[in-house]
Amino acid sequence: MKHVIITGAGSGLGAELAKLYACKGFHIILLGRTKSRLEKAKNEIEELRGKATIFTCNVANYADVERVIEEIAKQFPSINGVINNAGVGYFGNLEQLTEQEINEMIDTNVKGTIYLTSKVLPLLRKAEQAKIMNIISTAGLRGKVNESVYVASKFAVRGFTESLVKEFADTNIAVTAVYMGGMSTPFWEGSNHIKDSSRLKDPKFVAEKIINEDNGQPEIFIDR
Ligand SMILES: NC(=O)c1ccc[n+]([C@@H]2O[C@H](COP(=O)([O-])OP(=O)(O)OC[C@H]3O[C@@H](n4cnc5c(N)ncnc54)[C@H](OP(=O)(O)O)[C@@H]3O)[C@@H](O)[C@H]2O)c1
Repeated sequence: MKHVIITGAGSGLGAELAKLYACKGFHIILLGRTKSRLEKAKNEIEELRGKATIFTCNVANYADVERVIEEIAKQFPSINGVINNAGVGYFGNLEQLTEQEINEMIDTNVKGTIYLTSKVLPLLRKAEQAKIMNIISTAGLRGKVNESVYVASKFAVRGFTESLVKEFADTNIAVTAVYMGGMSTPFWEGSNHIKDSSRLKDPKFVAEKIINEDNGQPEIFIDR
């Protein structure tokens, strides 16, 4: 059986991708900070007769990422895919953002993606074919008012991803960046940046589009 790690898999897009990949026959390794969310996602996968294992991990913490990959490697010595999906956003005028909010966005969205990718590489290299998929946003394509640091974090992930596409061009590892617009997920809880987030795209719809359009190409655009 093939194994896929999904970060931020306890809610929103990550949980939807997890269910769809499980239905395609992958064993899903669900990562996130909140055990109860991961357990709920695992139960939903098992109700669909899929297979999943949960590991709590803060991807923004290097030592925690090292620990979790060591634990994963004991059970799953080779990994076929990793989806870097965990992300946070804080919005508003630049001077309104707190140090904690700035750090959380950079630490989770940028460093989290880099930490996890670098640590999982030895396991990806053991698979015949492997994939790294980075969930970015249209915020990785252009600047937006009141989204400056979030956009900066997503531009960073775009640069990281584009570089890995080149670095791994002649290897067993395909790398894909995914760009999508707003989705109706817990991402917007506590924010008034979007007037009515319930009118945004259903994350299940976006997950289905990602899976249908994934042919190993370096970029998938759900919106531009
Ligand atoms: N919603 C949108 O409109 C939208 C649009 C474009 C792109 N995106 C991107 O899509 C991705 C998924 O977001 P979503 O909309 O599905 O939001 P979400 O439901 O809030 O999902 C984000 C997940 O990331 C996890 N997470 C956050 N910080 C983490 C950390 N340090 N370590 C491990 N896990 C962490 C959260 O769980 P815990 O808090 O339990 O860890 C949560 O399950 C993000 O990268 C986001 O930037 C979202």
